[in-house]
Amino acid sequence: TTRPYVIDEMISAKSIAAKVESLAREIASEFRDTEQLVVVGLLRGSFIFIADLVRELKLPVEVDFLEVSSYGNAMESSREVRILKDLRTGVEGRDVLVVEDIVDTGHTLRHVVNLLQSRGPRRLRTIALLDKPSRRETDIKADWTGFEIPDEFVVGYGIDYAQRDRNLPHIGKVRFTE
Ligand code: PRP
Ligand code: MN
Ligand code: MG
Repeated sequence: TTRPYVIDEMISAKSIAAKVESLAREIASEFRDTEQLVVVGLLRGSFIFIADLVRELKLPVEVDFLEVSSYGNAMESSREVRILKDLRTGVEGRDVLVVEDIVDTGHTLRHVVNLLQSRGPRRLRTIALLDKPSRRETDIKADWTGFEIPDEFVVGYGIDYAQRDRNLPHIGKVRFTE
C-alpha cells in the first residue's frame, strides 16, 4: 500500500524539544489554578508528543487516551471520524487538554471537541504540534500550535504513513522516488 519514498528532515528533534518546552510553559500558566488537568492524547499519532509534553508540565495531571481514526492507511482523510476507544475518566466539571499531533482537514479535532464539550468540562483547551491551515475543511483551530507547515505529507514523532515511521525522532516530509 506504500509507494517507494525517502524522508527529508523538516523539523529537527532539537527544535521540537524547544517548542514543547515553551508550549508547556504557556499551558501551565493557563491552568495554574487547576486541581488536576486531564490530558487527553488522541491515539495513535499523539503518543510521543503527549509523553514529552506532560514531562515538561509542572501541574498535577491525569493522562488518558481517546483512540480515533480517520485516515487508516490512506493518504486522504476519510472525513469520517470513528471512536475506537473512549476515555476511561469522566471529564464533567474538569479541566481538559486535548493533545493532537497534527490538524489537517480538522475533522478529527472538530469531532473530538464536540464530543468532549457535550460532557460538560469546566475548561476545554486543545494543542496540536503541527497545523496545516491550507487543508482545513472545518472551522477549528487548536488553542496552541507548535508549527504551521505547508501542505506536505509528514511523518515521524508519532505521525505515520500507513503505520510506518512513527518512531522517527524528528518530523520529516515524504518524497516519493517513483
Ligand atoms: C491523523 C493525525 C490526526 C488526524 C489529522 O490521524 O494523527 O489525528 O489524522 O487529520 P484531520 O485533521 O484531517 O482529521 P489518523 O486518522 O491517521 O490516525 P493515527 O493517529 O492513528 O495515525
Ligand atoms: Mn491521529
Ligand atoms: Mg495516521
